[in-house]
This record gives sequence, structure tokens and C-alpha cells, in this order.
Amino acid sequence: MSEPRKILVTSALPYANGSIHLGHMLEYIQTDMWVRFQKHRGNQCIYVCADDAHGSAIMLRAEKEGITPEQLIDNVKAEHSADFADFLVDFDNFHSTHSDENRELSSMIYTRLRDAGHIATRSITQYFDPEKLMFLADRFIKGTCPKCGTEDQYGDNCEKCGATYAPTDLKNPKSAISGATPVLKESQHFFFKLPDFDAMLKSWTRSGTLQEAVANKIAEWLDAGLQQWDISRDAPYFGFEIPGEPGKYFYVWLDAPIGYMASFKNLCARRPDLDFDAYWAKDSTTELYHFIGKDIVNFHALFWPAMLEGAGFRKPTAINVHGYLTVNGQKMSKSRGTFIKARTYLDNLPPEYLRYYYAAKLSRGVDDLDLNLEDFVQKVNSDLIGKVVNIASRCAGFIHKGNAGVLVAGNAAPELTDAFLAAAPGIAEAYEARDFARAMREIMGLADRANAYIADKAPWSLAKQEGKQDEVQAVCALGINLFRQLVIFLKPVLPLLAADAEKFLNVAPLTWGDHLTLLSDHQLNPFLALMTRIDPVKVQAMSDASKEDLTVSQTSVAPQGNGELVKEPLAAEIDFDAFAAVDLRVALILKAEHVEGADKLLRLTLDIGDEQRNVFSGIKSAYPNPAELEGRLTMMIANLKPRKMRFGISEGMVMAAGPGGEEIYLLSPDSGAKPGQRIK
Ligand code: 2FM
Ligand code: ZN
Repeated sequence: MSEPRKILVTSALPYANGSIHLGHMLEYIQTDMWVRFQKHRGNQCIYVCADDAHGSAIMLRAEKEGITPEQLIDNVKAEHSADFADFLVDFDNFHSTHSDENRELSSMIYTRLRDAGHIATRSITQYFDPEKLMFLADRFIKGTCPKCGTEDQYGDNCEKCGATYAPTDLKNPKSAISGATPVLKESQHFFFKLPDFDAMLKSWTRSGTLQEAVANKIAEWLDAGLQQWDISRDAPYFGFEIPGEPGKYFYVWLDAPIGYMASFKNLCARRPDLDFDAYWAKDSTTELYHFIGKDIVNFHALFWPAMLEGAGFRKPTAINVHGYLTVNGQKMSKSRGTFIKARTYLDNLPPEYLRYYYAAKLSRGVDDLDLNLEDFVQKVNSDLIGKVVNIASRCAGFIHKGNAGVLVAGNAAPELTDAFLAAAPGIAEAYEARDFARAMREIMGLADRANAYIADKAPWSLAKQEGKQDEVQAVCALGINLFRQLVIFLKPVLPLLAADAEKFLNVAPLTWGDHLTLLSDHQLNPFLALMTRIDPVKVQAMSDASKEDLTVSQTSVAPQGNGELVKEPLAAEIDFDAFAAVDLRVALILKAEHVEGADKLLRLTLDIGDEQRNVFSGIKSAYPNPAELEGRLTMMIANLKPRKMRFGISEGMVMAAGPGGEEIYLLSPDSGAKPGQRIK
């Protein structure tokens, strides 16, 4: 017997600012099945992951929710962990990039890179939000496309005409966070000198570490010439401060992959059998695999191996890249009900059905995988219930009734058990190669043969015939043994089915090697229903719930109002609860006045029944004589978090329509409405 392999496996770290959906689950299920296969075969295989907890999106979302980033990432971690556990994704450790281990390792790697001369510093000029006092990443700047004139385009590309540009090319740029006009400002940035690793990367990316399609893509980038990589961000930023550089933080993508090491290090602290250095030292003989989606190959196949090399660590054995998930042939869509969160799926359907469907369609390439919901129902019902579980349910009753639940000794059809035995190496090879679709095809081919054998012998007819009791028992004992083989082969995909089958079969947890033996003269436990057919009504309920689930996209940060009005494209749909959370009130404008030093704002004093509110509103261009507003009713959002502005605190927002300038129309209720009444 060869020594067990020592393997460390990771999946990409999910951002800690949003829910896990079925697109994410494709990767975690793929990785989990591969890890479970390795463990099933007796290898030491460790699967670690973590939440990717840093960056400005997380900082801004926490601020919007009125909680600290630490609270936000704790809440999200709990949600993510529950989703993964319920999908049977069995991490050995699920950690966070906002951890002591990650801080230490990130500092160490940075310091080693710096000391080896791989870090450069220079000043760059970027847009800065003068109200929010922060530099703006491209996605936080909006303006008019310099090419086609479409308004409300993000800082790096136009959704309408596809043009790409620098944020400084945008016309009429606005901060998407505050609505303020950004100003250009210089600051010192730190760069990782990626070109230092050009030769290493050219050879490493062609040494069997990448799928061919991925290696070809990377070769295009390598041929175009590598650029230095900006790894720093200015405060305010949620992340780790760069050692010795106050106010400068590591860019989230610098410490994210180090999070793989940090999660493993955290695990080592409670697993004395694991040695951090044995897995990460330059001369390590262990294997290291990263499973990722095709959108983040540059980080994993260029920056990451270069960082590891530069800091004196081992590089990955391979990067396993998968394609995107489509649902019913299209990109997941909120309005079609195909943007399905992990939890919404789990509220309606068992996890193993999706695991099996993904397995049946996943091969080792980078093609997209389509979850066709009709095909999903049909395939799960026909393969898992119609083929696999059916074998056990057809045979168990006869054994319990005719032989007190004992499997008789002997083998009624050695040619069949030989065929199963002969298929095993091919199935293992397919799993090893991540060609789960091939493994599932081969396993279902065996299930077809077992079912054909039972149909041919028809124990239900034999049982009615005089003197055929032994044959019934022999056929059914073989049927149960073939079922057991199938469960062994399917266990990495269907661990719960396997656990239930182990109970029914009255055996210890099955391992891959158990397929070499058969149960003989063996007592079974009572048969339990192992799986039930999918009712398409459940799938419909899941889609309907996904339409209801809609919440405002968590990555888009809308202007917070109170300042100038910024025209917004149609926002994502929201569910009723989100709407109900907004406290809309009828407000009487008691006073409306100019604000000294503000060329767009009016100060409004509003009566909302039992209290008065002070609100700054960017409506001056339409109401140059503010006194005309006094005595008028309007509508306000009364539970907007108070916002500190240069001129004072704004305690809500009044509602107005129109593109801006003179065309701003303050909304008013019909006559008869009273200040303080809630708008429903
Ligand atoms: O693309 C993403 O969702 C990132 N959060 C993945 C990070 S993977 C790793 F490098 F940490
Ligand atoms: Zn354009």
C-alpha cells in the first residue's frame, strides 16, 4: 500500500457582505465532493476556507446598517457557516481574513517581499470624496460616459456602449457614496513588483498547474507584459494597516489569499497532527489545490504564486478553475426568480439533490454549468430515486419478510459483481480528475445493470412460487450488495444517503476500499425511506420565494441623499419587508431657509406630529425663494440614520422627483393629510 497523500484544499473565500447563492455553491460543492473523495480513499485531505472580510464595500455596508464592520462580518460568518453546513460542505476549518493569524502572516509576507526589494512606492492621483473624506474606487464614482453621453455610468466602463476609460474621463463625476463632486488628490501607494517574477510565472503556469484554457488566457497576459500591482489603500479602510506605514492599509486582495494559510494555521493550533511548515515550506512534499471561479484566475495564477515565491513559501500544486452557473440557460436573474440563495433552496429542498445534479453536470473544464430546473427534477427523480434507492426498496422487504432481515451467503451473479469491481478504478480516476459527470455516468450505468438484473429475476413473482424462496433470498441479497456498492461510489456526493444506508445495512461508515467485499450472512436493520421524489411544486415555491427574497444589491452603494440629488437607474426590486422598514411620514414645512456656504442646500424645519426635524435638502436650485415652501405639506423618510454634514445634522430626507436643477418637484400628499401620518 502506498503512503496516504497529504493534501490541502481551499475554495475561494466568500465576501463577508452578502448571502451565499447557488452560483457560489457550485464551487463549494465541487470542492467538497473532491475532498470527501480523497478522505474516502484514505488520504489526509484538509479543506479550509474563510470569509473574505476586508475592503471598502464591507466598511460602507456596515456603516449603512449602523453597525461596526466587526459586527457585520460576525453576523455574515454565522450565516455563511450555517449555509455551508446545511449543504453538507464539510470544511475542516472556516475562518476569517480578519484574524490574528492573517494579520501576522500578511505582515510577514509583506515584510519579506519588501526586504527582498519586491515593493515599490510612488505617488498616484485619484478621485477623493470631499464630504466622505475618502479615496473612491472606480465603482464608487458615477458620471456621464465620455463616449456616448449616457448618464449614471460607473468609473471604469459604460454599460451602454461598452467603452472603458479612467474615472477622470467621466463627465460630471459624482461620488456614488455621498453624491459630492470628487476632487483629485495625490497619495503615496505601495506596489508589488510582479514583473520580477515574469520568468518564474512563465514556467510555472505551463507546468501542469493550470487547465489548458486557463494557461492560454494567462499566457496572453504574460505576453502583454506584467505590471506592478497596487497593494495599498488609504484610510479609512477596513483591513490591516501596513507595518510601519500609518494610514496605509493592505488592499483586500493582498491579504485574501493569505487567508488560506491563516485558516490552516488556525486549524493547526487545535490539530497537533498537522504541521503548518510541512504544508507551506518551500520544500513541502504535500499537495496544495485552490478551487476558484474563472473570474479570479489573475489573482491566483499570477499574483499569488509570485507572492509565495517572493516570500519563500511553496507554490500551489494546481489551481482548479470552474465556469459560472446559469439557471434555465441564462444568467441568474432576480426578476425571473432564478437568483436563488442557498437558504431559499434549503427551505424548500434537500441539499443532496443539488449536490447530485451538480456532480452529474460537472466536468474538469471551465465551461459554464446550467441548472435547468425541469431537468433537475427529472434527473434527480430518475437517477437517485428511480435507479439507486429503488434497488434497496425493491429487495429489502423480501429479506425482512422471508429471512428475518438476514442477507444470505453466496453470490447469485458473480459476473455482475465482477462488473462493479472492474468499474471501480475508472470511477475513482474520474473523481480524481474532477470529472464528476463521468463518474456519475459510470455509476448510473452500474445502477441500470443492477435494476435490469432484478427486473429479470422478478423476485416479486418468484416469491409467489412454491420452492423459490432460496432464489428470492439469493437475488435480493445480491441486490442489497449492489446497492451497497453504489452507495460506496456515491458517498462523496451523497454523504447523508450514505449515512442512512449505513444504518439500514447495519455497517460501520463505508470507505472506498469496502467495495472489494460483499456482505454475507449479515443482519440488516429495518428499511427506512432513503429519499423521496422531488415534487415540482417545491421547485416552483423556491423560485417564488427567490422573487420575494429580493433585496437591494448589497454591493451597490446608493447615494445617501440629503445632499444633491443624483439621478439613479431603476434600483433592484425589494421585498415587502424592506419596504415596510422605511418609515415614510407626512411632514409640514415649518421653516425653509438658505444655508450659508452651501450652494445647493436648504435647511428645512419639519413638523412630523409629535416632533420636529432638521433636514438639509439639495433642492435650492428649484426653490430659490425657500419661504414659499413654508406651510406646505411634503413627505419624508423619518427613520433614515441621522447624517452629520458640514452644516449640522440632517435627520431624515424629504422626497422629491425630477432630474435636478430647476426641475425638482417636492412631493405633497392630497389635502386632508396631517403631519406625522404614516404613508403606507
Ligand atoms: O471573488 C471573491 O469573491 C473573493 N472574495 C475571493 C477571494 S479568494 C482568495 F483569494 F481569498
Ligand atoms: Zn457609453
